[in-house]
Amino acid sequence: MCGIVGYIGERDAAPILLDGLRRLEYRGYDSAGLAVMDRAGAVMVQRAAGKLGNLAQRVEAAHPQGDAGIGHTRWATHGPPIERNAHPHSSPDGAILVVQNGIVENFHDLRAELRAEGYVFLSDTDTEVIAHLIHRFYHNGCGGDLEWAMRCALARLHGPNAIVAMSKDQPRRLIAARLGHAGGVAAGERAGEAFLASDMPAILSHTDEIVHLESGQMAVVEPGRIRYSTLSGDAVERRPVSVAWTAAEADKGGYAFYMEKEIYEQAASLTAALRGHLDVENRRVELAALNLDAGKLAALRRVTILACGTSYYAGLIGKHYLERLAGVPVEVDYASEFRYRQPLVRSDDLAVAITQSGETADTLAAAELAKERGAATAAIVNVEGSQITRLCDGVIPMQAGPEIGVASTKAFTAALVDLLLLAIYIGQETGRLDAEQRGELIEALLALPGMAGALLDEARRSGRYARLAETFHTSRNFLYLGRGMHYAIAREGALKLKEITYIHAEGYPAGEMKHGPIALIDEEWPTVVVAPQDRVYDKMVSQVEQIKARRGKVLAVASEGDAYLAGAADYVLPIPAANEFILPILAVLPLQLFAYEIARRKGLDVDQPRNLAKSVTVE
Ligand code: M6R
Repeated sequence: MCGIVGYIGERDAAPILLDGLRRLEYRGYDSAGLAVMDRAGAVMVQRAAGKLGNLAQRVEAAHPQGDAGIGHTRWATHGPPIERNAHPHSSPDGAILVVQNGIVENFHDLRAELRAEGYVFLSDTDTEVIAHLIHRFYHNGCGGDLEWAMRCALARLHGPNAIVAMSKDQPRRLIAARLGHAGGVAAGERAGEAFLASDMPAILSHTDEIVHLESGQMAVVEPGRIRYSTLSGDAVERRPVSVAWTAAEADKGGYAFYMEKEIYEQAASLTAALRGHLDVENRRVELAALNLDAGKLAALRRVTILACGTSYYAGLIGKHYLERLAGVPVEVDYASEFRYRQPLVRSDDLAVAITQSGETADTLAAAELAKERGAATAAIVNVEGSQITRLCDGVIPMQAGPEIGVASTKAFTAALVDLLLLAIYIGQETGRLDAEQRGELIEALLALPGMAGALLDEARRSGRYARLAETFHTSRNFLYLGRGMHYAIAREGALKLKEITYIHAEGYPAGEMKHGPIALIDEEWPTVVVAPQDRVYDKMVSQVEQIKARRGKVLAVASEGDAYLAGAADYVLPIPAANEFILPILAVLPLQLFAYEIARRKGLDVDQPRNLAKSVTVE
């Protein structure tokens, strides 16, 4: 949830650290701080509550000098987002400085223990416990060896954590470690310099050769040299992997917000999601990295989809795809529920984890549990090299490019493409889907990016969504209704609105409306109905009638040329006619645009909504 950066080399550390923090700000943005150290071990710490701009102003005024340092952007877990809780935190003598992403679950016990020994705490954070623990072992038992003091301290911590520390006594060294599923630590080096960061965008402008630290590993980082070991001190050989993402992809590219860019680039991200998976001539889907042979697929008894948030809603649509095209029963579980409900898992199950980041703590834990209990596992994931890619037996990469906006958009549509590919693939390998059906679906997939591009171009040209935002930005509540696959789209649309506009919105199965929610409808309560012309279209039309009979306003995501809804609904959000399995991927686009334009109209920070962070690496 927090962002960590580290730099050591020949250049001024402060601007490099600030640039890295800017690229990680999506991970947390309630306070930030950095510590810069020169070669004599003199350290300057700057911290500020609020957005990164506040820290940047302080750094500019103070000009910290030094060619090594660590930085942090925070999403508060322990203690309010005020300056004294901002990282870095230091040992009592100020010699050891620490930034952390994660949670020290036994921090109350450790704090009491350290207090009894005379340690004084200046913050409410669990991070300060780590700094004090390292200090204690450094002076008692580890003979002034920072590396070993850190190992001893880490052995006392419970809970997932990623930590970077530095010491005034060893000014040409940073030490990073990772324990459990706490957001990543990526390390990269380049002639005479070395970089650390929670996530690749902070490093990509320096190097595209990156190592992702595994849980239980430590990196001792010196200029141009990184040494890897286990927490018990055994050396580990880690070879950097080349990353296909570029620094430019991780920039805003002229858009006001990352979310806007990520919505409008979906023609390209959908094309990329298909890359390498279609054998058009033979009407086949290729999923080489899934690592499941035809025999195993034929014996599959059940698929369990595990995910959180937007990825979970993708899973709800995946259930329709897999049951109808692959003929296999599917359960979709919130990863956070699955991991604690003692699930019945068998060796003929396939657990599919869907996660943009590949670092969501609940999804990692749920996939790990399914694997421990004997299921084959696969990840639908966007971030290359993320933890889930190493945990699961197989991978279907989203290939959507970096998604920085906290509200997920292009990763959702890429996940839907991957789920459709998976359903076709299982149908193909088990013989349940014939070549003709596969051919139709492949044609539909090939047409998808063009359709999405045309929809988005028309939306931009017409200014429809900015006008709708003008009308609806003062609404206090919305209901979103859909049926079948579009029930999940209704829920995703409502989530987008909630998280970036702070307007209450509920996504509901349209058929359940009459069992309660219809009581909410009046002139003040608009309803978004997702009603393209599909197999449940007539049922959706009845819903619209019922809402209109109660004087509710209706915004309808409708097929272009739908004369009935053009007359019955108050506003139409058009999408093109398409194959029924492609429709949900198109139907979500107007809802992304609607939420985005309302947030803009309200003057909100679209990319950094309050209380949220992009990767939820804590429970
Ligand atoms: O990285 P993941 O796909 O595992 O993230 C899951 C959710 O945290 C994420 O989808 C969240 O709900 C987004 N803010 C939705 O826009």
